Amino acid sequence: MKPYIYITRKLPDALVKPLQEKYTVNMWKHDDIPVPKDVLREEAKKADALFTVLADSIDKSVLTAGENLKVVANLAVGFDNIDLTTASEKGIAICNTPDVLTDTTADLTFALLMATARRIVEAAEYVKAGKWQSWSPFLLAGHDLHHKTLGIVGMGKIGETVAKRGTGFDMNILYYNRTRKPEAEKQLGVSYTAFDELVEKSDFIICLTPLTPETKNLFTREVFQKMKPSAIFINASRGAVVDEQALYEALKAGEIAGAGLDVFQKEPITADHPLLQLPNVVALPHIGSSSTETRTAMIKLCMENICSILDGKEPKTLVNKDWRPLVNRS
Ligand code: DGY
Repeated sequence: MKPYIYITRKLPDALVKPLQEKYTVNMWKHDDIPVPKDVLREEAKKADALFTVLADSIDKSVLTAGENLKVVANLAVGFDNIDLTTASEKGIAICNTPDVLTDTTADLTFALLMATARRIVEAAEYVKAGKWQSWSPFLLAGHDLHHKTLGIVGMGKIGETVAKRGTGFDMNILYYNRTRKPEAEKQLGVSYTAFDELVEKSDFIICLTPLTPETKNLFTREVFQKMKPSAIFINASRGAVVDEQALYEALKAGEIAGAGLDVFQKEPITADHPLLQLPNVVALPHIGSSSTETRTAMIKLCMENICSILDGKEPKTLVNKDWRPLVNRS
């Protein structure tokens, strides 16, 4: 019997074809509606491999639903939606998609920074609404980026690549990370700074840290109150790193000047979300890595990882480094 692969979102046929030539492949019928949990569990019961997305919760109930599951390939660099401990216990390899999305996600993060600082969305809506009556000295005046201080919280590959973008704008770049990055300091001229100091000194604070128990709700009201009143906060990592109510209150009270958000605590958000009522918030639907080229590369990498595991080879991008395949399994 051919190994069985379940894919939790509808993907373009041309991309799935190579997998179909080797395996039995079943795919959820929608690309924009999540697969219901009971369907996912039923599929996991029979599957040798799952191809998942960050909106799927791959918890114990999914990982222990069947006996054949050998690999979960998650279409994201982040893997906070997956129970890694159970996966390793069950001999299930968890794979992600780092590297191929670094530049694209850094581009989007920088675009969000620029859009928020220079009020691009507000300005475009203003023109489309026919509100532009005449040239005016301070019409939709925003904040300069160049020669300002950029604080990056979370200096992984994406953080470093955002810093690289910042050097092109002659920015003074501070970073905070669990571990220091001497190489990045040398190459990019970035300065390691304690979290509180970074928050106090930066004109723009970009959050790119992964979601872990340590970073959950890292950005509290107290943290926002330490920022400059002119500061702009950007989040392109995970929504749960920020206390959203605190961010709303800080923006409302004028404690910071604006926010650009690609991620939210509970996605998708609806139009009545409090943060969307504020004119100084630019909100995006979690599209950090969403370019056609990069999403295609991410899909191919997930498929390559699935094939490697099913062929008994090392996957290219393994997350749970303590993973060992279970012996005596079909
Ligand atoms: C990721 O890969 O974790 C991103 O959030 C997806 O855009």
